Amino acid sequence: MFADFANHWVIIGLSADFRSGKLYPAIVADERIVLFRGRNGTLSALIDRCPHRGVALSLGKLADGIVECPFHGWTFDGTGACLSVPWNPDAKCEKLSALALPVREAGGLVWLYTGFRPDTEPMPPESLSAPGVVLSAQSALWDIRWTRAMENMLDSPHLPFVHKATIGRFIAPFRHGRMDTDWIETAYGARIENVIEGRDRPARLDFRFPNVMELFIDPPGKLLRMLAICTPEKQGQTRLTIVTLRDFARSSLLNPLFRRMNLRIALEDQAILESSQPSEVPPAGVEKSVRTDKPTLAFRKLYFERIKGSRAEPWPATAASLT
Ligand code: FES
Ligand SMILES: [Fe+2]
Repeated sequence: MFADFANHWVIIGLSADFRSGKLYPAIVADERIVLFRGRNGTLSALIDRCPHRGVALSLGKLADGIVECPFHGWTFDGTGACLSVPWNPDAKCEKLSALALPVREAGGLVWLYTGFRPDTEPMPPESLSAPGVVLSAQSALWDIRWTRAMENMLDSPHLPFVHKATIGRFIAPFRHGRMDTDWIETAYGARIENVIEGRDRPARLDFRFPNVMELFIDPPGKLLRMLAICTPEKQGQTRLTIVTLRDFARSSLLNPLFRRMNLRIALEDQAILESSQPSEVPPAGVEKSVRTDKPTLAFRKLYFERIKGSRAEPWPATAASLT
């Protein structure tokens, strides 16, 4: 399960967007998942596949924090425990569980583990706990492998070309000079610093392993960050989620404004990236690279060493319930 993306904490969305009384389907690395809140408000995630005949539990009903399968009405709680089986009062419910996945809420975000036995906890960016920070989020589905999307987020030289009318506008006049790019390893991934000849302030972005970029936009005296989260859905499809953090213009009435701005920037990337061949990033040496490709190449190295080829298996006890 979760082939090539197993055993990572991934951001699924904003906590505030997961309300009680509703089932929220999601897809991560080819696995259907359903998220919902229990009676006490705790968020849970199950593999969205009824252990009886495999249909999507997310098509069923949620009442009092209990999911009822749409097919034969078996019911499950947030731990995956089967609570009732219609027509079969003698059913051995303890052998009929659905598969639960670890899920956490931290920093105002929902984090899902693409596996069953996490030995770490999510590591939210510090900016999420800055005073007065408000969040807004949006997402889009791109026809591209997540690795191409992710490395684009770490790539600064494309800004004055793809984003010449938006975020690349201010560095466009410097593009005939030199850019120095540094990849500084950190506990969460890496800090990328770009120094452009003729510009005083280095630009900073962070890579947060395995699939998040934090862009430091910060106007003077203010906090403005963008988290770009590139999550594989199905093969060749990426869910791009953009979370904006700001400590000014805090009214939620302004969220659509920030969303429109992000959408415009994302659309500038989309068509260019979807034309990439091959759609999967190739190993080092296959494509021609230059000095400013350092972050891209560093990401690819991590991907081939620590992400690609991974898979997750359920606990033997729960696996038995699927057979
Ligand atoms: S398929 Fe879910 S109860 Fe039968
Ligand atoms: Fe871009």
